[in-house]
Amino acid sequence: MKLTPESLDAFKRACTENEDIAEIMRTHALNWLEAPVADIGAGRGDIALRAFPTLECVLIDRLDFAQFPIATPHRRLRRDVFEATVGDLGHPRTLLMSHVLQYLDDDEDALRALLARVNAAKLLVASNINVGVLGRLIRWSTPVFPDTNPEVDVPLIDERYDCVRTWQFTTSIHAGGRTELASRALHLLDVQTTRENIDLASHFLADEGLERSLTFNQEVRAYERR
Ligand SMILES: C[S@@+](CC[C@H](N)C(=O)[O-])C[C@H]1O[C@@H](n2cnc3c(N)ncnc32)[C@H](O)[C@@H]1O
Repeated sequence: MKLTPESLDAFKRACTENEDIAEIMRTHALNWLEAPVADIGAGRGDIALRAFPTLECVLIDRLDFAQFPIATPHRRLRRDVFEATVGDLGHPRTLLMSHVLQYLDDDEDALRALLARVNAAKLLVASNINVGVLGRLIRWSTPVFPDTNPEVDVPLIDERYDCVRTWQFTTSIHAGGRTELASRALHLLDVQTTRENIDLASHFLADEGLERSLTFNQEVRAYERR
């Protein structure tokens, strides 16, 4: 994983995706979800802070995001989620997984085992939809960057859950110019932002006629355990 708390913060500041995700959850899912919540790969923790600041929530992440504010009933846990016990996660009734499945799907059995162990009643999942320019970026990047880990749309691989609602929205990531936009595109691909990689991504963006913004589709899904 090439992501750092600083690179994640820079990416999130260049778009409104977390505000949009939090608004969808606050408006449509607040009365549906059940506390306590565990936010898996919470990053800054800002989605939970905006969406459900009064609910009990464990913000688990293997990186150190202590510098970012959290709501009073929320608490951070710095740990690899695969090493966390259900007690560590606060015996959650709802799991929030926003833009994190791409990091959790290397070992599908381990992900299944985690979901089975936690046995949450409800899941909220946010991920990109890889159509349009994002789909082309991912297809282009796979042979170019051997260690790419793009946010492909991971099926939830747990047949015990039914998807009961979806909400779609569009995100635009903004930049001052093509070089900066290229480094944002590399973040989406989880590729190191070296000079050489930025040049390669800049060429892709130039071919697409993109210089200052990149727009892609996203989806929030709500799941219930049968
Ligand atoms: C793309 S960020 C998304 C952050 C946040 N959910 C959001 O939407 O803003 C993915 C986060 O998952 C965390 N992560 C990845 N694998 C993890 C694991 N096995 N255990 C805990 N955190 C993990 C990363 O450190 C990173 O902060």
